[in-house]
Amino acid sequence: MTDCHEGTRSPMELYEKLTAQGDTVRALKTAKAEKAEIEAAVQLLLKLKVDYKQMTGQDYKAGCPPSENSVAPDNGPAADGVDGEDTVDPWNVSTTNAKGVDYDKLIVRFGSSKIDKELVDRIEKVSGQKPHHFLRRGIFFSHRDMHQVLDAYEKHKSFYLYTGRGPSSEAMHVGHLIPFIFTKWLQDVFDIPLVIQLTDDEKYLWKDLTLEECHRFAVENAKDIIACGFDVNKTFIFSDLDYMGASPEFYRNVVKIQKHVTFNQVKGIFGFTDSDCIGKISFPAIQAAPSFSNSFPQIFRGRKDVQCLIPCAIDQDPYFRMTRDVAPRIGYPKPALLHSTFFPALQGAQTKMSASDANSSIFLTDTPKQIKNKINKHAFSGGKDTVEEHRKYGGNPEVDVSFMYLTFFLEDDEQLEKIRQDYASGALLTGELKKILIETLQPMIAQHQERRKQVTDETVKQFMTPRPLNCNF
Ligand code: TYM
Repeated sequence: MTDCHEGTRSPMELYEKLTAQGDTVRALKTAKAEKAEIEAAVQLLLKLKVDYKQMTGQDYKAGCPPSENSVAPDNGPAADGVDGEDTVDPWNVSTTNAKGVDYDKLIVRFGSSKIDKELVDRIEKVSGQKPHHFLRRGIFFSHRDMHQVLDAYEKHKSFYLYTGRGPSSEAMHVGHLIPFIFTKWLQDVFDIPLVIQLTDDEKYLWKDLTLEECHRFAVENAKDIIACGFDVNKTFIFSDLDYMGASPEFYRNVVKIQKHVTFNQVKGIFGFTDSDCIGKISFPAIQAAPSFSNSFPQIFRGRKDVQCLIPCAIDQDPYFRMTRDVAPRIGYPKPALLHSTFFPALQGAQTKMSASDANSSIFLTDTPKQIKNKINKHAFSGGKDTVEEHRKYGGNPEVDVSFMYLTFFLEDDEQLEKIRQDYASGALLTGELKKILIETLQPMIAQHQERRKQVTDETVKQFMTPRPLNCNF
């Protein structure tokens, strides 16, 4: 036995030490502690894991204590890369790799499945539509139970969509559009209802904001979401602060979920510590509840068995691993998921675009001039230092942020491929590549702003009123 847990007598004691050490590593990373200090803490964590395996014959799983009654989550380890891998959780995304997060490894770590060609072809066959370029290009790259959703749909058992937004500021950024653009496509091709949760309560608990500010941001963000083109007859958008009080059925599900998840489990999944407020600790139940159809009796007429499909970026997966773990224990179907990669920060794919850093983001409120300046000034380039070198050796599209952005927003596959080849060969210079991106984003964002202007308070009220939707449930 190593001296790091001298005196540890039972698997439970060792498990608790491991959990606490995981918290320590996360806290050090969040506080951006010295590299050496983080490494020492990671080493200790690894040692404890080895000892745990020796003692119990099992791998340590966060949120899964070594008792017979404990319930194994349907994934493996905790969400973030405590053992030196990429960090991906609802609050942090970071990697040391300029190409971005290693998504194949993440699939293995999170225990999800890859969206392979077979699945893309199947979506095409079942929906009768050409797959969205987010699917064709692997931007939506991972899933849980999508085949099951399609099996049922083929047998005329429909499903509903659920996605969301945490309204932490008035302006959303371009990265936030990714799940909403894709959700709109899914709504159109499958012709199904959609619920969108605005977690103003979450932002109040996590940020230094008042309840009134969070609620106001929720309504402002709803306008941007509506501007993505959702069908008012098939879409219900709700603020938690409003809907929790208005819907006994929703609150009942929240309480059911709260009863079936322990503090230990959420500590393991989300890294909460003893000093986090209790609002944070119980919040995951609120993000889980819309995954169950009887949270919306006005839409599903009390049915609890309607399958839910959640499109989101993979940072939200920890919430839904917890949800899927709980679902069968409270008699509900597990929600299925489609996960997207991250739209990178302007400075590079080592982190995602985030609203908390204005220079890392292009906002939906930016003017054409701001878009141009941000891209020219901040977009990380995979080009060479001089024009001569660039012409001779070519640029690297795999780390070039402008090229990455084009993979998200330039719809023409052939044009994108030509840009990639020209940039890699040196025929296309960084300035020219940036110009193509600027000319792609400026009209796209201007059109979004135009559509948002058309969204009146009355329209927002329509979307946000609990009501039956146009669907056959
Ligand atoms: P939030 O507001 O952080 O993000 C909203 C949605 O945008 C995704 N996202 C991104 N996608 C691609 N690239 C990025 N750089 C990027 N940044 C954010 C998020 O994954 C999310 O899908 N707690 C949630 C709100 C929520 C939710 C949900 C999200 C409640 N219920 C159900 C998805 C599904 C949040 O704060 O999201």
